[in-house]
Amino acid sequence: MTQDLKLRESTEIQGDILAGFKKDHVTLLFLKFEEAQRARTWLRWLTPRIATTKQVAAFNKAFSEARRTSGGDDPKTLKAVWHGVSFTYSGLQLLSGADPVPGDAAGTTLGAFKEGAARRAGALGDSGQSAPEKWIFGNGTGQAIHAVVTVAADTPQDLAAAVTDQREAAAQAKAVIVFQQNGATLPGSRRGKEHFGFKDGISEPGVAGFDEPDPEHPQWVKDHPGTRIIPAGEFVVGLPPVGGTVPVMPGWALNGSFQVVRRLAQDVPGWWAQVAVQLQVLREAKTVAQDATVEWLAARLVGRWRSGTPISKCPFADAPNDPDASTDNDLTFRGDELGHITPLFSHLRKTNPRDGLVVTPGGQPLPEEQVVDNRRIIRRGIPYGQPFDPASEGPGGPDSPRGLVFVCYQSDLVKQFEFIQADWVNSLNFPPRPKPPADEDRRPGHDPMIGSSGRVTFEGVSESGENIYQELQFQQFVHTEGAVYSFAPSLSTLRLLGAGKLPA
Ligand code: HEM
Repeated sequence: MTQDLKLRESTEIQGDILAGFKKDHVTLLFLKFEEAQRARTWLRWLTPRIATTKQVAAFNKAFSEARRTSGGDDPKTLKAVWHGVSFTYSGLQLLSGADPVPGDAAGTTLGAFKEGAARRAGALGDSGQSAPEKWIFGNGTGQAIHAVVTVAADTPQDLAAAVTDQREAAAQAKAVIVFQQNGATLPGSRRGKEHFGFKDGISEPGVAGFDEPDPEHPQWVKDHPGTRIIPAGEFVVGLPPVGGTVPVMPGWALNGSFQVVRRLAQDVPGWWAQVAVQLQVLREAKTVAQDATVEWLAARLVGRWRSGTPISKCPFADAPNDPDASTDNDLTFRGDELGHITPLFSHLRKTNPRDGLVVTPGGQPLPEEQVVDNRRIIRRGIPYGQPFDPASEGPGGPDSPRGLVFVCYQSDLVKQFEFIQADWVNSLNFPPRPKPPADEDRRPGHDPMIGSSGRVTFEGVSESGENIYQELQFQQFVHTEGAVYSFAPSLSTLRLLGAGKLPA
């Protein structure tokens, strides 16, 4: 272990933020306490059980090494159950008896944290079917949420036992379990994929001081070409972020991270039916080849084929049997400024436009360190619900609930998660075209996988080499069913909170 990777040794930063829990079975418990003293007693019981970055990083390293030596199989004997905890604004207030965000913090991450996810919903496109009044947790009008406990395990049995312990501890503390959200990796050939059928969790930012740089390309993580190393302060409060200036934050926040949890329901048959309909529109307009398939268009909405293979590298067909292609993160959108290969509206370009982003329409492409590195998030989501099975009338059928428990960590809610969701995913004009046509007809539109309903512009090149485009109408098939903004404090802050104190 080199001195440079000292964050791997952190016993302060909770696990899952930098060192992902990476478990197949996860439960989130949303708790509300009735009384501060009992809440503190509960926290003193929980704190020694909270996984640290050091523990999780060491486990993940041993697991990867065992996997390598066994030729790729998961080592059955290496198991762990991990716990994490985060608190909402009202949770910190209850535990400490003090105001964690005194004064006016409007417009800052502390302000967003204080307001909570439900009050921030409007700006994030959570309206209509996704409106907070319809949420099953976190809606601000039902039960308040004070704490989110994450339990992650390798087997359903280990998870169930750990969740039972948590439920008993909550009952002793007279806490109400407002909601229990279970999540699990999809089975069989869908392992590692989200419910629409695409491989998920491929592109995560590398973190300076945690991930080993590649000796040839020190801006990338070793053995992960294209995975940029981002300053740790983008994810952990109090460490240097992009630009090096550490923002002034309260003492309780140091070495912690803001957590976003969103239950995103996915209507799988609805989304795929819509892809087929839009393909027909493109065929009739002769904007695509007559033999273009539904899979072909779906891959363009995501930016990767189902296997994970990026369409920027393999535009014509998936490469399902090439493990390197399915995790390939060495992508650039430079040279494809009009989105003729990877459309500008694709989920990939909407959520991580990478290098060559033209920020102002008609302006110059800018490098990632200037405009993208400070927008990254660490995603730790997991699917919930049964995989889609069109033949089933019950579990697995079209009506059974399913989706993604979206979880992400960042040091600034406004600048990172909210910016991606509001200013990129749901912006009609992101990423801007390098040369905008005067009539604005060709704005890319919303993200057609997760964004609000609306128009997107499909651009291509005709057989005779002309630039052609076609407007498509997309409905929304991903809906928000619950959301929480919380904060995962350092281990020292947890100990102080257990004693009823809040470092200012
Ligand atoms: C049901 C909802 C969602 C689904 C099904 C979904 C699916 C996917 C898939 C298949 C990928 C490509 C594989 C990968 O690199 O991991 C991806 C990447 C990504 N998604 Fe989502 N996603 C969802 C929601 C969100 C939300 C709400 C955000 C943030 C606001 C988000 C941000 C990202 C980011 C940052 C990437 C990495 C892009 C890159 O670096 O290339 N996703 N997602």
